[in-house]
Amino acid sequence: MKENKMHQRFQERIDNGEIIEPKDWMPKRYRRQLIRMMSQHAHSEIVGMLPEGNWIQRAPSLNRKKVLLAKVQDEAGHGLYLYSAAETLGVSRREMVEGYIYGNAKYSSIFNYPTLTFADICVIGWLVDGAAIVNQTMLAKSSYGPYARAMIRICREESFHKKQGYEMLAKMASGTVGQQRMAQDAVNRWWWPTLMMFGPPDDESPNSKELIKWGVKTKSNDELRQSFVDRSVMEARAIGVDLPDPELKYNEDTGHWDFGEIPWEEFWEVIKGNGPMNRERIRARRKAYEEGEWVRKAAAEYARKKKLNEEKAS
Ligand SMILES: [Fe+2]
Ligand SMILES: [Fe+2]
Repeated sequence: MKENKMHQRFQERIDNGEIIEPKDWMPKRYRRQLIRMMSQHAHSEIVGMLPEGNWIQRAPSLNRKKVLLAKVQDEAGHGLYLYSAAETLGVSRREMVEGYIYGNAKYSSIFNYPTLTFADICVIGWLVDGAAIVNQTMLAKSSYGPYARAMIRICREESFHKKQGYEMLAKMASGTVGQQRMAQDAVNRWWWPTLMMFGPPDDESPNSKELIKWGVKTKSNDELRQSFVDRSVMEARAIGVDLPDPELKYNEDTGHWDFGEIPWEEFWEVIKGNGPMNRERIRARRKAYEEGEWVRKAAAEYARKKKLNEEKAS
């Protein structure tokens, strides 16, 4: 079949809501876009363990420590599902991991901010995992089967992450004056960076149109951001914290909450590598990767010998 006929058939399959599987024909660019998106997503899950891991040793109670430990482990699992799902597109894990440790592959800008108090851990659960759910619920309907299936499982865990963060923050926001201040301060610092997690505005997002056409995404950055703002306003009110935006206002005509200007210059600086923690995050990941080399070698050798023994036995 001619190349453009193949493209046409592919688009028809997408438009009919069919799911694309690894062995199906797909345009080169669809494959490339998915590899970029899924590996960025995987890197984000792994880097995301760093700001929270920072508080495991200092969690305020054994129970908080247990929950945080479980959450951080979940994020490692998310990274693993996503690297495995991306591997079905013909890229190796080493290539992906080294692409961001030594190259310039991106990961979510949010993880380049520091966690200064335990309230940050509460707010990350509530806002950052909450934003991830909005994005990932959409991706669970993505046209690429392995990505969509990974997302379904991940979303269930993210929902636990969000609830535990919200519950902790609610408790802190109704605690002593000092605790209330700490909770509010964390909300103030994380609110705008969380809104940036949905990516640049639609008219400045070069990949969005194509991803929507191919059914990888079904909603635009701005649509997702708006639905996140709408639900966050209610949640903030319910626990008595303020969102740090004087322009937040309910719009009767649209039925949505209007919000102020996002500080995009800051977003682009963080993306360029100049966020408060970019260098430290990469340094930590590089160190872990290099110190783990012997583990990977040992595992590969073990697998090789096991296979050899099985072959001998059969
Ligand atoms: Fe996650
Ligand atoms: Fe999470």
